[in-house]
Amino acid sequence: MKHILLTGFMGSGKSTLGKKLATLLGRPFVDLDGYIEEREQRKITSIFATDGEPHFRQIESAWLTDLLQRDEPHVIALGGGTVCFNNNLAQCKALGWLVYIELPVPALTERLRTGRSQRPLLNGLTETEIEQRIRQLVEAREPFYRQAHQTVKGLNLNAKILKQLIVEQAGI
Ligand code: S3P
Repeated sequence: MKHILLTGFMGSGKSTLGKKLATLLGRPFVDLDGYIEEREQRKITSIFATDGEPHFRQIESAWLTDLLQRDEPHVIALGGGTVCFNNNLAQCKALGWLVYIELPVPALTERLRTGRSQRPLLNGLTETEIEQRIRQLVEAREPFYRQAHQTVKGLNLNAKILKQLIVEQAGI
């Protein structure tokens, strides 16, 4: 029994779906961003602002490695960039069943229009810049996301459907 790891862009529903999926499967749920904040005793926004993205990527990898060592199978919501840095993708694929929640850029843009100040990579952008930035990032990240064990369409997805799809394909 492996961990179930959810990847995908910011706003794809990793945390919301992950929490419900964990309840349906009777597994513990951990949100990697929340875990980092708890362990570092700082907000992600503050880590980005004070120490920069390269430092964030270092500690993100370190806490991911730590989390993946847990024996009990978990549901883990990764950060939107996690699988694109360091050795994270390989680790995730070795120790978990990695699921990519895929959403079209316009839907992501709509979802991310609000709450931008909590998203360091989108903070300070105008309405028109935001879609362009999301498109650039999604294009750069797709080659990583696509290496997940399973890709599911994120539009109209709910936890029950996600569970069915994972059980069917992963044989959990
Ligand atoms: C990031 C996504 C965030 C968080 C950090 C960087 C990214 O997680 O890890 O702000 O690079 O896409 P969510 O996808 O949970 O918002």
